[in-house]
Order: sequence, then C-alpha cells, then structure tokens
Amino acid sequence: MKTVPAVGAPVRLRPMVDADVDAVLALDALVHPTTWSPEFVRSQLGLPGSRTNLVAELYGALVGHAALLVVADEGHVTSVAVAPDHQRMGIGRVLLAALCRDAEHRGLVAMTLEVRVSNAAAIALYRRFGFAPSGVRPGYYADDGEDALIMWIHDVGKSDFKARLDEAAGHG
Ligand SMILES: CC(C)(COP(=O)(O)OP(=O)(O)OC[C@H]1O[C@@H](n2cnc3c(N)ncnc32)[C@H](O)[C@@H]1OP(=O)(O)O)[C@@H](O)C(=O)NCCC(=O)NCCS
Repeated sequence: MKTVPAVGAPVRLRPMVDADVDAVLALDALVHPTTWSPEFVRSQLGLPGSRTNLVAELYGALVGHAALLVVADEGHVTSVAVAPDHQRMGIGRVLLAALCRDAEHRGLVAMTLEVRVSNAAAIALYRRFGFAPSGVRPGYYADDGEDALIMWIHDVGKSDFKARLDEAAGHG
C-alpha cells in the first residue's frame, strides 16, 4: 500500500470487480465528456491474460482507476482517472506506476497510449514515467474531433525504465 503524500493516507490498489463498475463510470462522468458503457467495462474484467483493471481506494472510497490492455508484447494504457476532489495528491502516479510494474512483470517490451492534445495534466504525468510523443491521430475523439497525441515507452524492463519508475513512483 502506498501513502499519498498530500493527505498522508494510504491509497489501496486492487483489481476492479463487477461491483465497482457503477462507481467507476460515475467517476468517469466527472472527468470525461463521454463514458464507456457498463457492458463494455464489465467485458474487460476477468481477462487476466490480457487486461489489468485497477481501482484506487482512499478510506474505502473509490477515488481512481486505471487499465492496461495487452496486445502481443505491448501494453496499451486505456485509462487513468482520478476523482476531481482527489486530484494532484499523487494517486494518478500510484496508479500509473502499478500499470508500469504490471507491464514489466508481464515481460512486455513497450507501452503506449493516446491522450487529448489539450490534456496537459495527463501529458505531464505520462512524461514523468518516460512516455514520449511519437505522433498525432487527427480527429481521434468522436465527441469533439480533438486530436490524440500518441505516446510510447520502448524500454520497458530496461534499467532506464526501472530508474524512471522508481523516481516517478518514489515521490508517492
Ligand atoms: C491526469 C490525472 C489522472 C492525473 O491524476 P492525479 O492523481 O491528479 O495526478 P498526480 O497527483 O499523481 O500527479 C502526478 C504528476 O502529474 C502531473 N500533473 C498532474 N496533474 C497536473 C496538472 N493539473 N497540471 C500539470 N501537471 C499535472 C505533475 O507532474 C504531477 O506531479 P506533481 O504533483 O509532483 O507536480 C487526473 O488529472 C485525471 O483524472 N484527469 C481526468 C482524466 C484524464 O484526463 N485521464 C487521462 C486520459 S488519457
């Protein structure tokens, strides 16, 4: 269990289960213009060979979640979200560190994600872990046509990756 420095409280990460889906979607509705369907989120659970879905709890309340989709030897970060009233406390960092460690344990060689080009907070978080921009998907987001920045880490499991992970996660 990691301590969130800003509140001095332990954040607990655990696998997402079916009973979390409503709370996860309620959180997403606060931070995203559109949300996935409950059916889609449920379909992602119980597939440990190719999915990692984590939730973060603080004092028993669900305050964040994150997901990794494994495709061949790559990990796709498909979500990282923290409740608005718990942002900037280090919870996003704890969640992303857990996905990076998971990718390493799975023996993956690379990680990637898409993020809105305007999402400075998320881009700053991803950069801390070594995600680097590699291109843009024009009009990727269906709700408003915003472009997506594509980011990659190509050295998962290597010494530089471990050092960045220790550094980025170590603050939390
Ligand atoms: C992006 C998000 C997950 C970050 O979660 P968080 O718990 O607030 O992030 P942390 O407190 O762990 O911050 C870690 C680092 O990320 C960067 N960061 C986070 N929020 C930031 C902000 N608003 N502005 C600039 N940098 C920010 C900083 O480098 C920060 O480190 P610091 O606090 O030591 O400066 C959160 O803002 C969020 O849920 N946003 C809405 C959903 C979303 O956009 N998800 C990503 C979709 S691709």
